[in-house]
Amino acid sequence: QPERTLVLIKPDGVARRLTGEVLRRVEAKGYSIVALEQRTVGADLLREHYAEHEGKPFFAPLVEFMSSGPVVAAVVEGHRSIEGFRALAGATDPTTAAPGTIRGDLGRDWGTAVVQNIVHGSDSPESAAREIGLWFPAL
Ligand code: CMP
Repeated sequence: QPERTLVLIKPDGVARRLTGEVLRRVEAKGYSIVALEQRTVGADLLREHYAEHEGKPFFAPLVEFMSSGPVVAAVVEGHRSIEGFRALAGATDPTTAAPGTIRGDLGRDWGTAVVQNIVHGSDSPESAAREIGLWFPAL
């Protein structure tokens, strides 16, 4: 089975009407969207999703931000899609993310406690399996 990754369009991306632009880039790259849903999620799911960041100073603001409005969750499929989507997304910090990437082209620093960087992509096959199970338990 081709590799799958979990992509999230975060509340800043949805609020800025970037859903179509992000999905366009995923499809233009050649990946398939095998599941897609917009929803507003609670703190419990987000604490699990971001378990690796528990204890860090930005953990609470991050959970707060991610539950502040709708997100778009997608399962994206294709060989090396985990690495490939992270390349499309660009570096975590949108100020310095390379132009040509989602964060580099569309993101900036808004002076908020949490870096708002439009998208999330799983960082390893283990994270992808765990995150897809969390967001799309029926898959
Ligand atoms: P991401 O890498 O998708 O997942 C963790 C998120 O936490 C990250 O995107 C940013 O949105 C946020 N983040 C990471 N590091 C910091 C930091 N030092 N300060 C504020 N927010 C951060």
